Amino acid sequence: KPRVLSGIQPTADSFHLGNYLGAVRNWVAMQETHDAFYCVVDLHAITAGHDPETLRKRTRISAAQLLAVGLDPDRCTLFVQSHVPEHAQLAWVMGCITGFGEASRMTQFKDKSSRQGAERASVGLFTYPVLQAADILLYQADQVPVGEDQRQHLELTRDLAQRFNGQFGATFTVPAAYIVKETAKITDLQDPTAKMSKSSSSPAGIIDLLEDPARSAKKIRSAVTDTGREIRFDPENKPGISNLLGIYSALAGRSVSDLEAEYEGRGYGDLKKDLAEVVVEFVRPIQERTATYLGDLAQLDKLLAVGAEKARSISATTLRTVYQRIGFLAPA
Ligand code: TYM
Repeated sequence: KPRVLSGIQPTADSFHLGNYLGAVRNWVAMQETHDAFYCVVDLHAITAGHDPETLRKRTRISAAQLLAVGLDPDRCTLFVQSHVPEHAQLAWVMGCITGFGEASRMTQFKDKSSRQGAERASVGLFTYPVLQAADILLYQADQVPVGEDQRQHLELTRDLAQRFNGQFGATFTVPAAYIVKETAKITDLQDPTAKMSKSSSSPAGIIDLLEDPARSAKKIRSAVTDTGREIRFDPENKPGISNLLGIYSALAGRSVSDLEAEYEGRGYGDLKKDLAEVVVEFVRPIQERTATYLGDLAQLDKLLAVGAEKARSISATTLRTVYQRIGFLAPA
C-alpha cells in the first residue's frame, strides 16, 4: 500500500470547514487505500506564541475531532507529534541542508511574520516548513493530503528530499502533494476572495465544526454573495456563490451541476437556507462524537500513546539511516 502522512495544528478550539473539506475529509478516505499516518502537530503550534494549558486542551480536542469525523485507529496511525522525538531530530538535519534564502521565500512565513512584525517573529516560525518536511520524510510518505495553501511547503519538502538523496545516497521517498481541486481553497464567507483561516478570518467568515450549529446556520445565511442573481459555479466572477456551491457539493455528495440545475431560476436566499440545514445536519453528529471522546480522556490518551508507538517504529528506522548516511558516529 502507498504511504500517506498529513498533519494539523492544534491552534484553535475547533477545526473549521476549510480544514475539514480541504484536508481531513481526504485523510478519512485515504485510510482505506493507504498506509496512513496522521498527526496533531503540537511542535508547529508553538511557533507564534501560545498558552501551555490551552495547547494541552486543544491537542486533545484536535485528536477527538479527528476521531469524530471518521479516523479509525484500527485503520490509520493517529499520534501527537511531540510524542515522537524523531520529528525534532530530523528537522535539525534538514535545516542544515536548507538554504536561508530558500526558507525566506516561503510565502506563509512572509505573511505570518509581517502580520506579527518581522522583528518579533520567532526563528521557529521561520524553520516551520523544515519541521514539516521532517514530518513527511520520516515516514517515507508517497502522498500528502493538504489544502492549496500548503503547496509551496510540499515543493520545499520535495527539493530537500532530492537534495539529501543526491548528496548522501537514496534515503527518502520524494512525496507528492495530494490536493483535491474542488475543495483546495474554501473561502471566507465574508470575503470570498480570501481563504477561510483561523488566524485571519473574522468570526462571521469562518464555520467552526464545534460551534453552536444555529450560529453556523446564521453565518451561512448572511454570507457575502455576488451581484446578479444567477446560481452558477464561476469562481472568477461569482466567488461567493461558487464557494457556497463547493461546500454544498462536498457536504451533500452531489455534483455542482446537479445543484445548479436544482437552483435554476431560484434566489440566493433559497440556496443559503438549504445549505445552512446541510451544515447543521453535518456538524451535529461530529459534535456529539467529539464530546464522547473528550468524556474519557484516559482512553483518548491511551489511544494516542498506541499511535505514537506505531509511528516510532517507522520514524526511528528512518532517523537511524539518516544519522548513518550523514556521518554521525553510532553510539557503541
Ligand atoms: P493547518 O493546521 O493550518 O491546516 C490543516 C489543513 O487544512 C488545510 N486548510 C484548508 N484547506 C482548504 N481551504 C481552506 N480554507 C483551508 N484552511 C486550511 C491546510 O491546507 C492543511 O492541509 N503546515 C500544516 C500542518 C502540517 C503538515 C505537516 C501538513 C505540519 N506538518 C506535514 C502536512 C504534512 C498546516 O499549517 O496545517
